[in-house]
Amino acid sequence: MREAFDRAFGHSPAVAASAPGRVNLIGDHTDYAEGFCLPMPLPLETHVALAPAASFRARSEAMAATLAFDPYGPPRGDWTDYIAGPLAELAKTGFEVPPVEILVRSSVPAGAGLSSSAALEVATLRAVLALTGQRLSDGEIARLAQAGENNYCGVQCGILDQMASAAGRRGHALLLDCRTNTGRRVPVPSAFHFNIVHCGAPRRLVDGAYNARRKATADAARHLGLPMLRDADASGLAALTDGEMLKRARHVVTENARVLAAVAALEAADLHSFGALMNESHASLAGDFDVSTPALDRLVESARRAGAIGARLTGAGFGGCIVALVPAGLPEWWPGVAAANPHAWLV
Ligand code: GLA
Repeated sequence: MREAFDRAFGHSPAVAASAPGRVNLIGDHTDYAEGFCLPMPLPLETHVALAPAASFRARSEAMAATLAFDPYGPPRGDWTDYIAGPLAELAKTGFEVPPVEILVRSSVPAGAGLSSSAALEVATLRAVLALTGQRLSDGEIARLAQAGENNYCGVQCGILDQMASAAGRRGHALLLDCRTNTGRRVPVPSAFHFNIVHCGAPRRLVDGAYNARRKATADAARHLGLPMLRDADASGLAALTDGEMLKRARHVVTENARVLAAVAALEAADLHSFGALMNESHASLAGDFDVSTPALDRLVESARRAGAIGARLTGAGFGGCIVALVPAGLPEWWPGVAAANPHAWLV
């Protein structure tokens, strides 16, 4: 990136850092209810190089544009907000945030539900901390990245993506407890092969629908007299009389239980139990939480028909990707899926 940085800004970078995108294996729409998730970092990463400068400027190789931005000013409404937001939060905590020029190179597809924004946020924070010689834990970096996205970008996301990117390690899933914001790394046995497939349809209405789901789970907890749905159990849900609220709450409560069961299956190298839990998770996200789409449902269905042990949508839903647990040595799997889903692509 040294040469590219030099071409963009006319001098050498001082530091470089990176952070990965993530796939969530199971446990979606549970993070903002202080529940459990099981993400895994991807080999796809965002790299940033930066150097001190007279003012804040960023260049994205994908966008082929160099833009001025200001973490101390209002958001621009574009990708630079994912750099400015975390830096604004870093400054708020009293850390030094000098003006920098930043070059961004990423292999995480944007808008696919694989946390390209979290990867950019975490890589930016790591690079600025390296530049100024300051230190923060992975959990603190994740919290600042999430706060940047909440407060500066106006996206009411939970902590899943930022924790997966900051605390995830290659070859390990991360059992995330979103109440304590702590993660336990669980080695992924070699028999577990996860394939990620984009359904080919753009994500639609994500922010409004996402915030509505988030509100529905908070409303359900309030009706139950609980701080969060994390504190609910399935038997107590009968107290919810509103049918839609009951379904939303049931997804969160059953999904939390599935995450813990999935970790046990992973630790026992039990492919079939893990796959069955993925299938149940998809049914719950589609039926109770209503975040699937016809394209995602079709893709999940053909992934299974082509031989996947389990398959589910991953991330927020409303488009984007599925994750499938596929037996090793099944070369005909992808051609089978592709034939039935001509717009889909293997990530
Ligand atoms: C998005 C959000 C996360 C999480 C998932 C759904 O990726 O950014 O915080 O809520 O959706 O699990």
